[in-house]
Order: sequence, then C-alpha cells, then structure tokens
Amino acid sequence: MIPFPIMKHCRCFLPRLFVPCVVGAVLCVCLEVFTLPLASAEEVTSKTYKGRVIAPPMSYQGADWLERTERESTQQPERVLDELAIKPGSTVADIGAGTGYFSLRLAQRVGPQGRVLATDIQPQMLAMLSDKMRAANIANIEPLLCTPTDAKLPENTLDLALMVDVYHELAYPEETLGQIRRALKPDGRLVLIEYRGEDPNIPIKPEHKTTLVQLRSEIEPLGFHVKDVLEFLPEQRIVIFLKDGEHVGQ
Ligand SMILES: C[S@@+](CC[C@H](N)C(=O)[O-])C[C@H]1O[C@@H](n2cnc3c(N)ncnc32)[C@H](O)[C@@H]1O
Repeated sequence: MIPFPIMKHCRCFLPRLFVPCVVGAVLCVCLEVFTLPLASAEEVTSKTYKGRVIAPPMSYQGADWLERTERESTQQPERVLDELAIKPGSTVADIGAGTGYFSLRLAQRVGPQGRVLATDIQPQMLAMLSDKMRAANIANIEPLLCTPTDAKLPENTLDLALMVDVYHELAYPEETLGQIRRALKPDGRLVLIEYRGEDPNIPIKPEHKTTLVQLRSEIEPLGFHVKDVLEFLPEQRIVIFLKDGEHVGQ
C-alpha cells in the first residue's frame, strides 16, 4: 500500500513533469526530422564538387582585403581589362562583385551606353559598392542581390561574365554556370580569374585556388570550351571560355 504522502506527491508532480517531457520529446523528434536531412544535403552538395573542396564565401567583414593596395601590382586590373578588350556599349556581369573593385573599372570600359550587372550573395558587399558608386557618381552599374542557387541574371543579355576570385566559392557550380550560360549572348565570354592551384608557393589556402585541369574538367562538360588562358599575372590565371558551338565576338 502506497502511503498517502507519496500519492499526494505523485498527484502534484507527475502532471507537471509529464507535460514538459512530452513537449521536449516532440521537439527533439522535429529537430531530427527537419535538421538532419538539410545538414547532410549541404555536406554532399556544397562542401565539395568533383573532389574539390568548395571555399566558404569570403565574408563582408573582411572587405578591406578586397581594397588592398598591392592588388594593383598582383592583379593588374587595368591590364586585365585591356586584354579582355571590352567594347563600349557592352553589357557585362561582375559575378560575386564584392565591393566592386572590378565593377567600377568595368563601368568605365563599357561607358554610358553600356551596363554592368554587379551581383553578390551578401547585401553588405553591395551596400559598400553602392556607396562607391554614389561617391564616384557612377550610374551604369546595377547592384543585384543574388543567391547561391539563383544568379539573378537576365537571359541572352551578357557580352561578358567575369568572376574574379569567385568560382572556387560557388556553392552550386553547376546551377550557377548553367544560369550564366543562359545569360550569355551566343558569342558571350565567361572569364575566370583564379589563383593557380598548381603552385604551392602561392600563400593562400588550397580551397581558394584551382588548377587548370580542375577548371576544364568542371566547366567544359557544362557546355563551354576554353578559348584562351592568360598567364601574365604572378599568382593568378585568367581563363576565357566560350559557349560550345559559338565564336568569339569581341
Ligand atoms: C573573394 S570575394 C571577390 C570579390 C570581387 N570579385 C573582387 O575581386 O574584389 C568573393 C565574392 O564572391 C561572392 N560570392 C560567393 N558565392 C557567390 C555566388 N554564388 N554568387 C554571387 N556571389 C558569390 C562573395 O559574397 C564575395 O563577395
């Protein structure tokens, strides 16, 4: 026979314990159901691509690095744009524009009749780019907030799609490259600037570099072929792709 005080104890505490336990158990099951499949999908689709580790996007908090003065000598932006011979009046996209280091220079090259679509997944980067546009009174750049799965590029519009230090950060390379391909005009060019993965002396993390073999094996099956590889920069290479079956127009 259970003594009365214990019965009383049970009557008081069991309902109080029962409700939080049931709520806790339901929450645990929900968390399992909703978070596990997402976590494993992320691991499979956005951490590696064809054996290459995908770099996480460079945070806007490190944006100062994009404005470092030695970029002029290591990346030679004006010479790069000279080599690309961008025509006035062109429509170009600076994909993963960051603070607009290349967008502002592209805006000068395409002139008032041309336009620069400057995309990024981080609104803070685009806010810094917009500040620069206001300060320099530039009107032919359109900052566009995109997502890792939606490049937000209009179809059949671009003469050139430029990605400077961006390709290795794409979380969904196949989707993004497919969208870029659709956005390029038939003779449009896709241009990547990437740190050379073949050179172990370049002081940058391996996932921020790519080899030419990797770039070709990842991008050519998506309907592009290499038109040119420019190797004049000390640490980076410029790879120019055309859409398969198309001819260079610029
Ligand atoms: C290393 S920064 C380079 C910025 C700029 N291209 C430059 O050279 O100064 C890489 C940028 O790519 C952006 N990014 C990463 N993945 C992206 C994606 N799928 N679409 C557009 N931008 C992306 C990041 O948010 C970041 O601003």
